[in-house]
Amino acid sequence: MSIASKAAGVEFRNVTRRYNTVAAVDDVSFTIEAGTLVTLLGPSGCGKTTTLRMIAGLEMATSGTILIGGKDVTRLPATDRNVTMVFQSYALFPHMTVADNVAYGLVVSGVRKRDAAAKAAEGLELVGLGGYGQRLPSELSGGQQQRVAVARALVLEPEVLLFDEPLSNLDAKLRRKMRDDIRELQQKLGLTSVYVTHDQEEALAVSDRIIVMNKSVIAQSGTPDELYRRPKNRFVADFIGGANLIDGELVGRSGGTATVALGRLTLSVPDPGLPAGEVLLAIRPNAIRLRPAPVGSAADNAASEGIPVTVRKATYLGSHMEYGLASEFGDLFVVDPNVSNPVPAGASALATFTGDGIAAVGR
Ligand SMILES: Nc1ncnc2c1ncn2[C@@H]1O[C@H](COP(=O)(O)OP(=O)(O)OP(=O)(O)O)[C@@H](O)[C@H]1O
Ligand SMILES: [Mg+2]
Repeated sequence: MSIASKAAGVEFRNVTRRYNTVAAVDDVSFTIEAGTLVTLLGPSGCGKTTTLRMIAGLEMATSGTILIGGKDVTRLPATDRNVTMVFQSYALFPHMTVADNVAYGLVVSGVRKRDAAAKAAEGLELVGLGGYGQRLPSELSGGQQQRVAVARALVLEPEVLLFDEPLSNLDAKLRRKMRDDIRELQQKLGLTSVYVTHDQEEALAVSDRIIVMNKSVIAQSGTPDELYRRPKNRFVADFIGGANLIDGELVGRSGGTATVALGRLTLSVPDPGLPAGEVLLAIRPNAIRLRPAPVGSAADNAASEGIPVTVRKATYLGSHMEYGLASEFGDLFVVDPNVSNPVPAGASALATFTGDGIAAVGR
């Protein structure tokens, strides 16, 4: 017997979940392709867990339709859906061995003890815990307990595997290792996985697609690259990758590119599909470079190459410098790999912009 993928796609059609009068999830529609890992990303209270619990059947939609594998499951209870969830708290039975914990779901669903044990052993092998079966959960580290929880979910061969902030109880280094391992396992087994996090870096690292949620609705969905390079609104530009947001003007569009003006400076950005006029420029901290401030007539010419700034703060961080700048367009935060000749705090400088890392969004 071996663990197989029964991956199915998930579709939400205009799904709303209300608690009394408040919509925790409001008219949300999306499609998750079978065999992909999709992240629900957003700040606390935006509706991520509620969305996940509706996929599991632990929460019922107030209105709308939910399909799994093309089948309408909107009214099906959790027990009749082939979906399993990995919780942040692990939720292992403390008095049962690791092997029994992993086999538990199979035994309950009527699989013979011997078969369940064999599958549990295989599940533990998959998560790198072969040989740990006879321990108690209390004899494992937090990261190992989380792996047991993953193994327990895997052996059920779910059509959809759900993760609700699975790594938030782990330290930063272990988080990185676990997220890579989860991603590797998901790809190896071809699992459909829905992964909830409020950590944008984690989302960028593990996802085929990201659904960014804000205040019960979808702010934008797309591949990590699309969301980072072509954010559609202020919220997404800021939430993913922390862009500087300053006012600019869209002056022209052609061939997938738009021209925006920032003072006398013109910049090329991916065409945001907006009409000419006022826009918000989302400028990544690593898209700005500092040069010594030009003087005299050179300063005048420089207005077409960059904008004059004052360095308010310069912080050395080993691999890069972080700068806080003041400009007539507002404050800017800069991450600069040039650490060998940094610009000191208090200095005047010219801020120039690299071609990539700037997007225009609606004001
Ligand atoms: N059982 C409930 N009764 C009433 N309101 C609820 C209930 N569950 C969730 N909510 C509300 O619905 C909204 C969305 O909650 P949800 O748990 O989905 O957020 P979340 O994005 O998972 O947040 P977090 O990152 O803090 O876990 C919140 O405003 C929350 O207070
Ligand atoms: Mg939550």
